Amino acid sequence: MDLRAIGVFDSGLGGLTAVRQLRRLMPSENIIYFGDTARVPYGNRSRETLLQYARQDMRFLHTFDLKAVVIACGTVSTNCLEALQAESDVPVTGVVQPAVERAAAATRSGRIGLVATRASVASGAYERAFHRADPALEVHALACPLFVPLVEEGRCRPGDIVIETVAEEYLASLRKAGVDTLVLGCTHYPLLSEVIGGVMGPAVSLVDVGAEAARACRDQLAARDALAERETGSVRFYTSDRAVNFQRLASLFLGEEAGGTVEQVDISQY
Ligand code: DGL
Repeated sequence: MDLRAIGVFDSGLGGLTAVRQLRRLMPSENIIYFGDTARVPYGNRSRETLLQYARQDMRFLHTFDLKAVVIACGTVSTNCLEALQAESDVPVTGVVQPAVERAAAATRSGRIGLVATRASVASGAYERAFHRADPALEVHALACPLFVPLVEEGRCRPGDIVIETVAEEYLASLRKAGVDTLVLGCTHYPLLSEVIGGVMGPAVSLVDVGAEAARACRDQLAARDALAERETGSVRFYTSDRAVNFQRLASLFLGEEAGGTVEQVDISQY
């Protein structure tokens, strides 16, 4: 048993969809969440900038006593995972490998789609991981840069003409490619599950990368005999921009009131 906390970070609020899954799977765990709301979005940035930001995010999280870190950001996971793992003294889980395992197991046709940020798609990390899993898999990767700002504006519900139009246009090529499994490669995208599912149709399985990373973290803690045993765990939120902005949107991502305290930190100090 290990009562130390799990650290989670994202470029902003999207990683809260992973926190939701961590809470569901491991309600006894304490979670420290950092959302880099002052510097979001990460999705169009260079690898050098991403690495600089992610290292600061990790240094902040490591000011707490942690037993594991979950990188709940698709963009950081695809561009910086190995470097961050090498620099951390606790296990670091990214979103790519767990999602690839789920998608490779789910596909029947061997044609898999990926939607993610520009930087995630440009990294080629998903293609590499899929080809390691099974060289016969056909991967169709698509950058969808408008999805994140629309989700942050709350334009994510079925019937919203703006998101439906954008989703139709983006996803047409994946429909044409005949994918039967679609990886939602960004932690904002679970909020678009209904819209994306509506466009792709019921025969296409959607893979939520935050949920898969949460599962992988749970399995890894269980294998180390490091799960917490206590009545209920707590979540503490930290952001690099004003806490009130975070509170306004957090319930959308968490599916519950953020509750507890949200504190602002100066991430440039780390
Ligand atoms: N959190 C990022 C990701 O999962 C999306 C938002 C951003 O571009 O920063 O890739």
